[in-house]
Amino acid sequence: MARILVTGGAGYIGSHTVVELQESGYDVVVVDNLSNSDVTVIDGIEAITGKRPNFENVDCNDYIGFDKVFDRYPDIVAVIHFAASKAVGESVEKPLLYYRNNIGSLVNLLELMQKHKVNNLVFSSSCTVYGQPDKDHLPVNETAPRKEALSPYGNTKHINEDIIFDQSHANKSLHATILRYFNPIGAHPSALIGELPNGVPNNLLPFITQTAVGLREQLKVFGNDYNTPDGSCIRDYIYVVDLAKAHVLAVNRMLEGKATDKVEVFNLGTGRGLSVLEIVNTFIKVTGVDLPYKIVGRREGDIEKVWADPTKANKVLGWKADTPTDEILLSAWKWELNLKKKRERK
Ligand code: UFG
Repeated sequence: MARILVTGGAGYIGSHTVVELQESGYDVVVVDNLSNSDVTVIDGIEAITGKRPNFENVDCNDYIGFDKVFDRYPDIVAVIHFAASKAVGESVEKPLLYYRNNIGSLVNLLELMQKHKVNNLVFSSSCTVYGQPDKDHLPVNETAPRKEALSPYGNTKHINEDIIFDQSHANKSLHATILRYFNPIGAHPSALIGELPNGVPNNLLPFITQTAVGLREQLKVFGNDYNTPDGSCIRDYIYVVDLAKAHVLAVNRMLEGKATDKVEVFNLGTGRGLSVLEIVNTFIKVTGVDLPYKIVGRREGDIEKVWADPTKANKVLGWKADTPTDEILLSAWKWELNLKKKRERK
C-alpha cells in the first residue's frame, strides 16, 4: 500500500488524521519535532489502529534531516503538511519564529518533494484567511476574497497558500489540495488521543474542559456585545475526526487522478455557526458538570462571526461533517477525564 508522509503527525489534527489514514489502509511516516506534542501520541495511534506509524523526530526546517527522511522512504506518494506553529497571540510576540517555522518548513518541503518526485500535497490552511467575511459572504465559500491577516500566524497561512499556488505553477507535476479548516474540536472516541494544549489553552474547548475538570478556576467568555443573537462570537466548530477523514478523501482524490485543478481549495466546516454561549451551555447540559464562567471584555483581534459553506467539499470530496455537537463535546470531556486519570497515576 502507498505511503503517506504526515508532518506534524504527533499533533492534534495530525494524529487523528494518521489514525484515519492507517484505518483506510495507508502506511504512514510521521515527521514531527515534538515542539508542541508528545511522543506518547504515537502509542495512542498504535493502540487505536493496531499499527505503529513510522516516526521520525525531525524538524521540517532541518533541510538535511528532512532530505534523509525522503531517502529512507522512497515509497512516499503524498504529503500532508500539518507541522506549524499555531498560537495567534504568540505569533504577535514572536513573529520571526512564526515566519521561520511556517514559511521555512513549507519551502523545504516543496523543494524536497520536487527533488524526490513526490507530486501530491495536502496543506493545512485556515478560515483565518477570510478574516471577517462581509455579510453577503456568510456562510463563507471558497470564492470569498482572502483578507489581510490580523496576526503574523494568519499571515503565514496566507503566504503559505501563495507559495503553493506559485510552486504548482512552476512544478508541472505538482498537485495540491488546500484545506481551510474552521474550528476543530473534540477527541477520538477511544479517548486515546486528543488535544494536548501547551500551558494555558488559548482555544475555547480545551479551556472549557480544563475548567470543568478543576485545572482552571473560571472560563472567561470574551464579549457579549457582538452583533449576534446572544452577543457572543459565532464559529463553525467541526469534529476533529470528521476533519481527519476529509484528508483521506483529499489524498484519494489526488492519487486517483481525479483532481480537476492543479490546486484545489476546500472549506472544511459543518455549515452551522454556534456562539460561545451556546457551546458553554451545551457542554453543561450534556456533561452535567459545573462550569464556572464569567463574561469579560472582548479579546483583541477576535472575529465576530464566521461559519463555512462546505458545499464544495460535500459534493466534490463526498464528505460531510455531521457528528452531533453533543457527541463532540462529550468526546472532549472524556479525553480530559482520561488525562486526569493519567495525572493521578503518576
Ligand atoms: N473564547 C472565549 N474564551 C476563551 C477562549 C476562547 O470566550 O477562553 C472565544 C473566543 O473569543 C472566540 C471563540 O471562543 O469567540 C473561539 O476561540 P478560539 O480561540 O477557540 O478560536 P478562534 O476562532 O479564535 O481561532 C481559531 C484557531 C486559529 C485560527 C482561527 C481562524 O485557533 O488558529 O480560528 O479564525 F486562526
